[in-house]
Amino acid sequence: LSATDTAIRASFFDFTGVVDRPDDLAGQARYLEDAVLLLRDGCVVGLDSWENSEAMLAGHPVIDLRGRLIVPGFVDTHIHYPQTEMIGAFGEQLLEWLNHYTFPVEAQYHCPDHAARMSAFFLHQLLSNGTTSALVFGTVHPQSVEALFSAAEALNMRLIAGKVMMDRNAPDNLIETPEQSYQQTRALIERWHQRGRLSYALTPRFAPTSSPQLLEKVQQLRQEFPDTWLHTHLSENPQEVAWVKELFPEREGYLDVYHHHQLTGRRSVFAHCLHLEENEWQCLHDTDSSIAFCPTSNLFLGSGLFNLKRSWQQGVKVGIGTDVGAGTTFNMLQTLGEAYKVGQLQHYRLSAAEAFYHATLGGARALDLDHVIGNFNIGKEADFVVLDPAVSALQQLRIGNSKDIWEKLFVLMTLGDDRNIAQTWVAGRPVWQRDAQEQAA
Ligand code: GUN
Ligand code: ZN
Repeated sequence: LSATDTAIRASFFDFTGVVDRPDDLAGQARYLEDAVLLLRDGCVVGLDSWENSEAMLAGHPVIDLRGRLIVPGFVDTHIHYPQTEMIGAFGEQLLEWLNHYTFPVEAQYHCPDHAARMSAFFLHQLLSNGTTSALVFGTVHPQSVEALFSAAEALNMRLIAGKVMMDRNAPDNLIETPEQSYQQTRALIERWHQRGRLSYALTPRFAPTSSPQLLEKVQQLRQEFPDTWLHTHLSENPQEVAWVKELFPEREGYLDVYHHHQLTGRRSVFAHCLHLEENEWQCLHDTDSSIAFCPTSNLFLGSGLFNLKRSWQQGVKVGIGTDVGAGTTFNMLQTLGEAYKVGQLQHYRLSAAEAFYHATLGGARALDLDHVIGNFNIGKEADFVVLDPAVSALQQLRIGNSKDIWEKLFVLMTLGDDRNIAQTWVAGRPVWQRDAQEQAA
């Protein structure tokens, strides 16, 4: 042990390895009721029971968080930071919602000061909800992403983001030419991609706002920068799907618009995927692409029900997205609770094990980051959440009568929210603490 090592005593829960079938989750789950996590230089160097750790600690200071449950930081695989300020917009489904509410709000991000203010607010929302990594949409303005990356860099967060690319079917003040889109995206990649813990995602908004010429530019960027991510929307709403078929009659279907330009692949993340055809499921599997399942958004916009069972059967990686501002919360516990209800409506039982897997290691895998984040294996980056399992009288009653860790986790995803997030740590440092917040308030 070196003097600068951090030792934390608490209960811990994580998954030690990825799985391809939900039946294998229990075998990878690790629950240590009284254990010590050791951190050095922002990474995990050990996790073992208190019994096994005590002698080795030999007088080293220990941060005593007994009574708290520490889990890996939540991974939000799909979210729009500029939509924070329009969460809860009444009455519309996807296409009208975009026109009435989303585009006017996104137009404000031409202003760098506004982008900087909202970036700080947004990252604070993520951290105060226990989310330590996210795949994030900016707006079409490069300054939106500039502001977000700057703020995330100061916190040393592992964040993937990109400027929206769009050249049609949106207001004039939000569209660009394919050439502008290429140049601005390229400049951002050169400045930010793989800088510290930041990475760049090519972000064509969705097929309807992309001409074939724009998609060619996205394809060119992906060839020039093959280790960037690709982040877009796919098959969210039936009217949207029909519109894509009208706009791209030469393509076989919605996914083929992207696949034709070689935008599928291991680091490609498609949000929603609610109305896929058989061959589209197959294509996502064959190309090793990922899906972001966004339950609160899908319910809020009335888009449809994601078929989790099918994603396992088909061997397609899935992460959870909040999809703020169509999604209605930044909080992953609440999002998992809604995911459970989406399952119920299809007679699919989303277990707590599966839910927490998707929110942590599974989400990391969907983002192709499971080699660096997602659990407490030695060498992983130390991003984690300290959960206070019972903060209200109702939670105390219900958590108190839960018989095992599975029931506790399930009750947390049913009754839990941001009150349960006691602390959030990023790269081995506490970056948010509930009690500090209360004292300041
Ligand atoms: N499809 C295209 N743009 C968007 C967006 O901003 N939110 C959602 N939910 N779907 C989209
Ligand atoms: Zn979205």
